[in-house]
Amino acid sequence: MDICIFFLLLLPSLFQALPYSLSATSDNHILEQGSSLSVEKQNDVLVSPNGVFSAGFSPVGDNAFCFSIRFMKSSVPTIVWMANRNQPVNGKASKLSLLRNGNLILLDAGRIPLWSTETTSPIFVYLQLHDSGNLVLHNIKNESLWESFDSPTDTLLPGQKITKDASLLSSKSQTNYSSGYYTLYFDNDNVIRLLFQGPDPEISSVYWPEPNVRPFEAGRTTYNNSKTAMFNSTGYFQSSDDLVFSASDCGMVLHRRLTVDPDGNLRFYSFDEKNMEWVVTWQAFPQPCRIHGICGPNSLCKYDHALGRRCSCLPGFKMKSNLDWSYGCEPVGFNYNSLVNNSQESGFVHLASTEFYGYDKDFIQNTTLQKCKEKCLSSQCKAIQFKYSADDGYYNCYTKPQLLNGHQPYFQGDIYVRMPKSVLSSIKKSMKELWLNCPQDSNALLLNRTYEKEGQNRLLKFVLWFAVSLGGVEFICISLVFCFLFWNSSEDLDKDTQEYMLAATTRFQKFSYDELKKATRGFHEEIGRGAGGIVYKGILPDDRVAAIKRLINDGHGGEAHEFHTEVSTIGRLNHMNLIEMWGYCAEGKHRILVYEYMENGSLASKLSNSNALDWEKRFGIALGTAKGLAYLHEECLEWVLHCDVKPQNILLDSNYRPKVADFGLSKLQDRGMPNNSSFSSIRGTRGYMAPEWVYNLPITSKVDVYSYGIVALEIVTGKKPAGSQFSESGMMTENHGRLVKWVKEKMIGADTSQTDWTEEVADSTMSGKFDKAKLEVLVKVALQCVEEDKEARPTMRQVVEMLQGYEEEKIFDTPKVPDASCESELPYFDNIGKFTDEENNSRTFLMGH
Ligand SMILES: *[C@@H]1O[C@H](CO)[C@@H](O)[C@H](O)[C@H]1NC(C)=O
Ligand SMILES: *[C@@H]1O[C@H](CO)[C@@H](O)[C@H](O)[C@H]1NC(C)=O
Ligand SMILES: *[C@@H]1O[C@H](CO)[C@@H](O)[C@H](O)[C@H]1NC(C)=O
Ligand SMILES: *[C@@H]1O[C@H](CO)[C@@H](O)[C@H](O)[C@H]1NC(C)=O
Ligand SMILES: *[C@@H]1O[C@H](CO)[C@@H](O)[C@H](O)[C@H]1NC(C)=O
Ligand SMILES: *[C@@H]1O[C@H](CO)[C@@H](O)[C@H](O)[C@H]1NC(C)=O
Ligand SMILES: *[C@@H]1O[C@H](CO)[C@@H](O)[C@H](O)[C@H]1NC(C)=O
Repeated sequence: MDICIFFLLLLPSLFQALPYSLSATSDNHILEQGSSLSVEKQNDVLVSPNGVFSAGFSPVGDNAFCFSIRFMKSSVPTIVWMANRNQPVNGKASKLSLLRNGNLILLDAGRIPLWSTETTSPIFVYLQLHDSGNLVLHNIKNESLWESFDSPTDTLLPGQKITKDASLLSSKSQTNYSSGYYTLYFDNDNVIRLLFQGPDPEISSVYWPEPNVRPFEAGRTTYNNSKTAMFNSTGYFQSSDDLVFSASDCGMVLHRRLTVDPDGNLRFYSFDEKNMEWVVTWQAFPQPCRIHGICGPNSLCKYDHALGRRCSCLPGFKMKSNLDWSYGCEPVGFNYNSLVNNSQESGFVHLASTEFYGYDKDFIQNTTLQKCKEKCLSSQCKAIQFKYSADDGYYNCYTKPQLLNGHQPYFQGDIYVRMPKSVLSSIKKSMKELWLNCPQDSNALLLNRTYEKEGQNRLLKFVLWFAVSLGGVEFICISLVFCFLFWNSSEDLDKDTQEYMLAATTRFQKFSYDELKKATRGFHEEIGRGAGGIVYKGILPDDRVAAIKRLINDGHGGEAHEFHTEVSTIGRLNHMNLIEMWGYCAEGKHRILVYEYMENGSLASKLSNSNALDWEKRFGIALGTAKGLAYLHEECLEWVLHCDVKPQNILLDSNYRPKVADFGLSKLQDRGMPNNSSFSSIRGTRGYMAPEWVYNLPITSKVDVYSYGIVALEIVTGKKPAGSQFSESGMMTENHGRLVKWVKEKMIGADTSQTDWTEEVADSTMSGKFDKAKLEVLVKVALQCVEEDKEARPTMRQVVEMLQGYEEEKIFDTPKVPDASCESELPYFDNIGKFTDEENNSRTFLMGH
């Protein structure tokens, strides 16, 4: 008896001995042993000390809640973790309880355990939400028994690790948080991959890195079996398989997350404090249709910048589940089994520029369409892929027993879908009726595809068949997509094709000299020439169009492995305003670099061609170029100076988005030079070079800022920095600084003569059509950049900020994930009965799990 009393007396003092922080319960920072958070009380949440994260019940549907950790600064809280994503709890009587035995448990409707940490502890425990967003179950010795960071859902936060036991699994959709189809995980061979595992258990495939590229070629290693990956708050992601990437805004952002989105894309997000929203700063796939399973079987995924991604069924098919494209489409009024051994009954629907990735059954080289079709008819085949191989000069045939991963139109090859003749003719019939709805200008429909020998209108016919099978809304969407495509000039279409394809899945790879020789047809078509080497246009074995640069110091290129190290550093730089390097070749004396090909050529060529650039484009180019350079200069990357910023090195894609080219080559070019210093020789181009070069001063990133300033002035004025048109300024004995001086004189002159200097400096080819305020800012920023004193020049990051003040554009165009317009997505928990029976606490209201 005495002992009992002794213990009773001791109990209060035991509690007082707990860490000071435990007394903070009233501030919602701690959940103590023996207490719980109720779904019914709004204030029953844990808040991190910095107020950024909160843990509590989030509504996920009608009377359905999940216990989750939320990022609270966004206008709508962002869910970063969930305890019970697949089994929501009732809105009545459900609670999260920290039991006396140390177990943390989620009780549905007050009784049914749905989830628990399965922890026990002989000593006192408490639950705390840390500033990092990690929910941790501590004991009083400050040891952690369980952490939410060890079991991520679809999101990784800074410092949180992906391991062999912790992978990311996407949500079903933006509004349905239950488990989706895409996983980021460590594979058995130690490589981190993205996997699609669809609703059909038989269909699963790895789609990143590119499945037909070996890990080494994708820049990964299989030798490190520690299997850990994480990113730090600077925005630098690093994995034990050598995968590294960084956010385009690395360095300065307070909050970041990495999420496997419902559309299967892996994206880095930064929080934009000003607009209270997340902005994408890196993504694994710029071309979302290359993600497997995205539209399900028997369907096509199409993508364009204006409309985003959309799914549609093949002609003769309809959507299987209105809820979810992942189930794809099913044939209307026929089935493939009845077609087998019945070749008389089958016909083919032709879809141009279409691919169904994977699942090739038979492969016939150098064949005809007729033979290919026959092969298909004689087997269990749903379609054929018929593709011209430009290198070999003949067609290849692949038969497809499955129609998966279909996408259009950025592919050079055609699909012929097998179909009963009866279905074919009904599709054709309904097509005729819609003919009038199509664009009248038939010229605009021509595709310049040299290997296409037959009628040019087949793609158009397909649009119509398609529209018929899909009906109203879909038709409008599809027409828009196609009109968009067709009304781009026919030349553009062909070139876009390659550009988007590449951007997609490719990683850095090593080419053989023979491959590149073949790709360029013996270094035949020269498209550019610079100090570093000569650039040729080429077509890679996988049909991508590339710019292939043969370095001039071919032969003094250093050891192949050193070259590899340096080049792969450059190859990893990944930003929308930097030209993408796809690979290289270091064989014998040959040193060759392979880049993406840019259809609009260089800024230099567009500036010299009057009328090519309106003011919007010019400002966009100035801003984009600044962003690209800012990324190069960012501290968290290896220090990369460009050293030769000039209009010839700023290339333009089909949307006139600038991409800086030729960066990182300084070191490569210095190989073989006697002096070991990184900058043993003056580099750069007359007119764009900072005074430091001339006066032999230390070289810093400010040399690029100077050159950028000159380029910006050139963009505004259309005048070359060292051109003869400045003779009026007299006296100048060196070219250096002529353009700058001219602009300054105009500005000062305006002060006295009360004229508008912007009119005077603006390139006359714009015919006065420009935004005066923006132009003023750009000129003023440019003049700061060309200050003689390098300390007086801003950094590239500051340049971006100054320009961005005038441009709402985000660091990266936020993608539409997933796009809403044409896809139907029903509200969550549509048909679930409300909880009414309080007495019984019945949980039949939750779908039959
Ligand atoms: C608990 O441990 C963490 C590191 O594991 C430390 O940062 C923290 O200050 C400790 N808390 C207390 C109350 O000792
Ligand atoms: C394996 O990867 C880890 C994590 O990136 C790294 O710390 C470790 O040094 C690597 N081991 C080897 C042998 O490269
Ligand atoms: C088709 O024909 C082959 C050989 O003639 C036969 O083995 C197969 O069972 C047939 N399939 C069907 C569905 O009739
Ligand atoms: C392709 O096949 C045709 C006809 O069989 C033949 O004449 C031609 O030489 C073949 N081409 C190649 C490259 O094998
Ligand atoms: C198609 O392209 C070829 C080669 O690029 C060119 O010679 C031809 O004029 C083009 N035809 C049309 C109709 O644009
Ligand atoms: C993140 O990692 C990069 C590369 O290792 C490093 O430069 C940077 O300092 C790191 N940032 C933080 C906050 O640790
Ligand atoms: C959300 O996804 C789950 C898992 O596929 C499914 O069972 C549930 O019906 C979905 N809810 C709605 C309303 O689509």
